[in-house]
Amino acid sequence: MLAVGRGRWGTVDRDSTQGALASIGLVTWLVTGGAGYIGAHVVRALQGSGRTCVIVDDLSTGVASRVPVDVPLVLGDIHDGPMLQAVMRDHHVDGVVHLAAKKSPTESMADPLLYYRENVGGLESVLSSMVRAGVTRIVLSSSSSVYGVPSSELVDEDAPLAAINPYGMTKAVCELMARDCAAAYGIAATILRYFNVAGAGGISLGDVGVFNLIPLALRAVTRGERPAVFGTDFPTPDGSGVRDYIHVTDLAEVHALAAARLESVIAGVGQRSPDVYNVGRGEGVSVLEVLAMVRSVTGHDLPPLRSARRAGDPPSVVGDTSKITRELGWQARHDLRQMVESAWESWRVTHMKAPGSELTPSDP
Ligand SMILES: NC(=O)c1ccc[n+]([C@@H]2O[C@H](COP(=O)([O-])OP(=O)(O)OC[C@H]3O[C@@H](n4cnc5c(N)ncnc54)[C@H](O)[C@@H]3O)[C@@H](O)[C@H]2O)c1
Repeated sequence: MLAVGRGRWGTVDRDSTQGALASIGLVTWLVTGGAGYIGAHVVRALQGSGRTCVIVDDLSTGVASRVPVDVPLVLGDIHDGPMLQAVMRDHHVDGVVHLAAKKSPTESMADPLLYYRENVGGLESVLSSMVRAGVTRIVLSSSSSVYGVPSSELVDEDAPLAAINPYGMTKAVCELMARDCAAAYGIAATILRYFNVAGAGGISLGDVGVFNLIPLALRAVTRGERPAVFGTDFPTPDGSGVRDYIHVTDLAEVHALAAARLESVIAGVGQRSPDVYNVGRGEGVSVLEVLAMVRSVTGHDLPPLRSARRAGDPPSVVGDTSKITRELGWQARHDLRQMVESAWESWRVTHMKAPGSELTPSDP
């Protein structure tokens, strides 16, 4: 492998040099959590834009078979700084996309220390390793959970960090850590606040974790159970929670755009605060509307089971996505039906077996 890394660059015409290198696959990004649901799509988007990837993943929730055969998968924990530094040096890493984290708001309410250890401690380890190895670019997975209960219909990036559950709080702390490290160590950071990610970019790439609404609904219908709606008395048009859903392949594409932009930043020169972007469709969809789409796509016509609100669930969170469109030229292309259809297609293959013509559920 050619040694292309930081410190070998002059300050002249670096943008075009790096862009040209990306186009021939000589810019390398470390993707933490690259065997995960979103990570596997991000790796493909980075490869598709001409970049080379290396993954660090402990496979705690990831799936090794999602990793493309030409991408090295280093099996390890992001808390292991010496391992991360060795990967950064050995693979001549130019930047990090950091996705490895725990992601369930409900679980975080029950075990906040796990979330602080994994999400905040994990990022501290990644950033420390970057400083030691001289890696100066990071794209950070954040979440719309940092907004808590937004005071406006469409929440923009200037809204205060006001998380209402430990998961969202850990993401807010991670953002602040990235901001401080940008100022102190000259790390160029882009923070992506994902809204509700759904769908699959291929049959083997669906979300195998059953935390989010669509996988929960698909599991329910394949078990012949009624999908639960947590909260039907929110101050929303139909009383159920409203969220902004984004197809995972649209989301993945943003990482390649963010990587390209960070590659044009000259290390240590003119560093700014991190760029922060909402990544969603900018459209609110209620839980009942999603479940109606699940019924339409799957043909399973089980009525929703109305349940009490869950702790830490805000009524409505929908992103203002005008900044990312303006600055990165990005806009989501897939709609809710495409999200549910692709998720269902993947779910059927991953979670069900078909003896004869009859589909039967298997354990997720
Ligand atoms: N899925 C969503 O709707 C959503 C929304 C907002 C933000 N996010 C964020 O996106 C990121 C990825 O989420 P996902 O949905 O792909 O989850 P996921 O669980 O599928 O992926 C996480 C990956 O990180 C790996 N990992 C976890 N802890 C690790 C550790 N200590 N060391 C090494 N690897 C580790 C897991 O094995 C897995 O492959 C997370 O940071 C999550 O908070 C997700």
